Amino acid sequence: MSKLSLFPLTTKANDAGHLVIGGCDSIELAAEFGTPLYIFDELSLRHKCAEFRDEFSRCYTDTKVVYACKAFISRTLATIFKEEGLGLDVVSAGEMSIAQSAHFPLDKVYFHGNNKSAEELQLALKWHIGRIVVDNFHELRMLDEIAKKQGAKPDILLRLSPGVDPHTHKYIATGVTDSKFGFFLSGAAEAVAQAMSSPNLNLVGLHFHIGSLIFEVEPYLQAIEIVLNFANDMKSRYRLEPRELNIGGGFAIQYTQDRPVSPVSVYAQAIATKVVSNCQKLGLALPGLVVEPGRAIIGQAGVALYEVGAIKDIPGIRRYVSVDGGMGDNIRPALYGAKYEAVVANKMRETEAREVTIAGKFCESGDILIKDITLPSVSAGDIIALPTCGAYCLPMASNYNASFKPAVVLVKEGKARLIRRRENLADLTSCDLV
Ligand code: LLP
Repeated sequence: MSKLSLFPLTTKANDAGHLVIGGCDSIELAAEFGTPLYIFDELSLRHKCAEFRDEFSRCYTDTKVVYACKAFISRTLATIFKEEGLGLDVVSAGEMSIAQSAHFPLDKVYFHGNNKSAEELQLALKWHIGRIVVDNFHELRMLDEIAKKQGAKPDILLRLSPGVDPHTHKYIATGVTDSKFGFFLSGAAEAVAQAMSSPNLNLVGLHFHIGSLIFEVEPYLQAIEIVLNFANDMKSRYRLEPRELNIGGGFAIQYTQDRPVSPVSVYAQAIATKVVSNCQKLGLALPGLVVEPGRAIIGQAGVALYEVGAIKDIPGIRRYVSVDGGMGDNIRPALYGAKYEAVVANKMRETEAREVTIAGKFCESGDILIKDITLPSVSAGDIIALPTCGAYCLPMASNYNASFKPAVVLVKEGKARLIRRRENLADLTSCDLV
């Protein structure tokens, strides 16, 4: 496969050898909006929303697709997800407020988190957030009291930690037993008992999220088996008949040429078959199915552009090509050893000639975006484009070294719309009291 297929669907190279995304020349975008610049292709984003919606509902009619905002959200994006009919998974008052200010239907919002504050829960009830995914006993008690006080009876799910290894980086494996998230299975029956006996809570189902960047289908199937067995046990003990089974997100995307992924249809087919067959075996009514993809919806739609500055040659050892961003806008390589591909966006017609290492500009030796990649000959002023930067780059960005968080543009049919301006000095000092 070619590197171009990692980019958004609308990507091509024009006659000038420039990378073109959504009908916009990336070199012109870099000149107009500056670098680092994050470009999102609207068509690719909508296409992925539709793919998840269609593939899952084809295999399992009662499926809801809920986009995990933590991968990246803004008010413009929330509007697109609203138009596409998705729900939103939020994990903070901040994400909830973005949804609210974009007039997103809040009954389609799922509120997650392992340490929600009383203020956040109060806000969630005030705004009639669709589901609160209760993570632990502390939250269960707190929510019970707040609901009673506010005269509300929220629909809740209980998050379980099914003890399944999703074979991903340990920082993003969440469904294992030794995890801060969710009720571990042997303690979860007590949570069901408490929720079922509360007049202030409406327990509608169960949730698990086993981790992120999961390339295999099997861990999902194992978790479904475990959680449905648990549901069956809860049915006989407490007459819980879950109306909803939320299996979280985690679906992998292809970041590099050597690590392909299965299409959404493969996950959908296997997951739907497993839910149906196990429910039939256990005599459980088929629950509504909820999936919460983040990365798989937005990852491929996003491209990061950087300008090349200093180049350092250490003969026989390495050629460092430094760019004007790095771990400030994309911490994933430094944090998880994440791998990316890159192209020289103004030299798309030149042949790849030489191995280089793309370094960021932050004051850390570990600020390397890509170690050892073969590119056309690179010089200062060239524009480097990294595909698959749509998820977990911008929301994890920092102001390290007092840097500015990048601008974001949304491209479609040759038009570019600035949906987040670059930060400036005034932003950096706005919270600073002298
Ligand atoms: N649902 C829940 C409850 C989650 O905690 C997450 C992600 C998702 C859904 C969406 O997962 P996705 O489909 O995007 O894999 N910063 C890391 C990823 C952390 C994921 C946290 N939870 C990274 O850059 O790889």
